[in-house]
This record gives sequence, C-alpha cells and structure tokens, in this order.
Amino acid sequence: MKIALFAGDGIGPEIMAEARRVLDALDLPGLVLFEGDVGGAAWRAHGHPLPPETLEMARAADAVLFGAVGDPECDSLERRLRPEQAILGLRRELDLFANLRPATMFEGLEDLSALRPEIARTIDLLIVRELNGDVYFGEKGTRTLPDGRRQGHDLMSYAEDEVRRIAHVAFRAAQGRKGRLTSVDKANVLETSQLWRDVVIDVAAGYPDVALTHLYVDNAAMQLVRDPGQFDVMVTGNLFGDILSDQASMCVGSIGLLASAALGAGRTRFGTRGLYEPIHGSAPDIAGRGIANPMAMILSLAMLLRHSLGREADARRIERAVARALADGVKAADLGGSADTRAIGDAVLARL
Ligand code: NAD
Ligand code: IPM
Ligand code: MN
Repeated sequence: MKIALFAGDGIGPEIMAEARRVLDALDLPGLVLFEGDVGGAAWRAHGHPLPPETLEMARAADAVLFGAVGDPECDSLERRLRPEQAILGLRRELDLFANLRPATMFEGLEDLSALRPEIARTIDLLIVRELNGDVYFGEKGTRTLPDGRRQGHDLMSYAEDEVRRIAHVAFRAAQGRKGRLTSVDKANVLETSQLWRDVVIDVAAGYPDVALTHLYVDNAAMQLVRDPGQFDVMVTGNLFGDILSDQASMCVGSIGLLASAALGAGRTRFGTRGLYEPIHGSAPDIAGRGIANPMAMILSLAMLLRHSLGREADARRIERAVARALADGVKAADLGGSADTRAIGDAVLARL
C-alpha cells in the first residue's frame, strides 16, 4: 500500500511529524511512504503549488495524508499560484467529491466547548460536504464595468449528477449511524439550492429507512449552536459545508480536533482511495512555535486507516489513544493547556 505524505505550509510539517510517529509506531507491513511538496513550500521550490511530480505521486498512491497549505506571503500571487490551489487541485484532479467531517464530543472537553456543557455533551454528528462543485469551481473573474467600477464574480452551480452522488454518500452514512439526515441549502433564494433539494428528495426514495429533513443554511447555523444533538448526518454543498464544519469544531472545543476524509469512486485493495486532512489550515499565527495541536492530523490518519487501508482496529486504537489523552488532561494551547505539539504526540503514543 502506498501512502503519500504532503505536509505543506505553516503548522503542516509540525503536525505531520506527530502523525508520522503514530504511523511508524503501528509498524504496518507492506507500507510504502512517499513525501511530496505542496502549497507555498512547493511554489518556492518548484514555482507551482501543485507540481506535476506531486500530482503524479498522489495519483499513484492509495491514500494521501495532507497537512495544510496557506502562506500569507503568497496571498498576493495570482490565484493559480496560491498555496490553496494545491488542495483544491488535488480534490478536483483525483475526483474526491465526498468530504466526511465528523464532529464528536470528547469526554473531559465539555467545559471547553463554546457551548454550555450540557449542550456540548450531545454532539455526535457527521458533516458530508460536497467537495468538487459549487461556487468554488464556477467561472470567476473581476471585470471593470462601463462606469469604471470593478466587479468580482464567482458562479455558483451544481449539476444534478453531482448532487445525486453526494446524496447517496450521505444517505448511506446515515444508514450506518442513527438513520437521520439533514440536507442544508438556501432553496428559498438560490436556484442551485432548489435543484439540490429536489435531487436529494428524489434520492431519498431509495432510502426509506433514513429520516430526511431540510434546513436553510442560516437556520442550520443557528440550530448547530442551539441544539447540536438533533443532528446525525448533515449533507450540504461545498461553501456551506466549509463554514458549518469550522463552526462545529468550536462546539466540540477546538478546530485543532477535527479530522476529515475526502473520498471518491476510486478503490484500493482494502477500501476507498482518499485524501485525509485536518479541517483547519496552516495557522500562520502560531506556525514555527511547536504549539499547534496535532490531534486533528492524527485523527485524520485514523480515518485513512479506516477508509483506505481497511484497518478499522488500528483506526480505533488511535482514536481511543487521543480520547484518553484528552480525558487525562493532555491539552495544547488551543484547549487552554500547556502541552506542546511533541508532548501531545508523546501522550498519544504512550496510550496507543
Ligand atoms: P486556520 O484554520 O489556519 O487558523 C484559524 C485559527 O485557528 C488560528 O488562530 C489558528 O492558530 C488556529 N488553529 C488552527 N489549527 C490549529 C491547531 N491545529 N492547533 C492550534 N490552533 C489552531 O485558518 P486561517 O487563519 O483562516 O487560514 C490560514 C491559512 O490556511 C490560509 O492561507 C488559508 O487559506 C489556509 N487554509 C488551508 C486549509 C487546508 O490546507 N485545507 C484549510 C483552511 C485554511
Ligand atoms: C478547508 C479549507 C479550504 C476550503 C481552502 C483552503 C481552499 O478552508 O479545507 O476547509 O475552503 O475547502
Ligand atoms: Mn475550511
């Protein structure tokens, strides 16, 4: 099995080092690891955020473990050269359209949630975010109007097959959980969302065992902090899913805790091909200080083992080790603790 490791920018290499130590500790047979450059680091070394050799490495791999990209010094580059194009390009080129972003409460963190403990305790949800369409990938540009004003535009659109395939992923996920699915859209205003809703309702006919409800995204954002326990699986488009998942992270306690899997139709010998990454970014404000929380990265490795390598037992071992470390009070600065990145890696390894 081939795994590509792309650490990226900012805290990416710092948290990747800890995930790597966990992976090494498992001592899995027949594993081949590759390292590749992505993001601002790749732009500096090769003049492009997603160099052809990196893309080839990803294509050849059964799974990609991805740190984070983003570098303030690159924010004024033309868009196609910016670090973020590395992750957008990988998702798109590998056709990884289904993004699973689980948010579950950890024992001992109830008081660190942005919500009241009795509300935080109820969180056990999965956001299924469409990852290859929406306003992210529509026609975009900036033009000058006849009267001299500049105008930016980004086209929002979904084709029905794009909605259908993510809806199937979400319904199947709900079947494997509590059987409840909430589709989030803005069908009261957006045509894109009306089509989304119509297709989701259509797909629902094949899943009579799943209870489907619909929420407008503004209400969904409110409900997520009012009563997150009402949600089992949430399915939504690229932009809404991006925003709601960062919000969900603070309900759990920190963005440094949330992992993700980006999956497509491709198969490995033991599962699904995929790319795995924390939901957070390169955190330039704390990069280089060794204080980032590597738990989201380590939990992303667990998702890789589960979905791409078929190693459920190892995935659970890692998840339990992280949960135990948290229950024992091992916390990085994002959770108000004093453990540094390495110490958290040590704590997880000790409990593995
Ligand atoms: P961010 O997620 O990088 O950081 C937001 C805040 O959360 C910061 O205060 C940061 O210090 C904190 N934070 C994030 N992860 C943390 C961790 N593991 N431990 C402790 N604290 C953590 O979001 P941003 O600041 O809006 O973006 C920074 C850069 O990252 C931008 O260039 C952005 O485009 C990029 N980005 C990349 C990805 C990705 O690679 N998939 C995701 C999001 C943002
Ligand atoms: C994420 C990030 C990315 C996104 C950016 C960096 C392109 O915010 O993975 O959540 O918007 O998808
Ligand atoms: Mn995001």
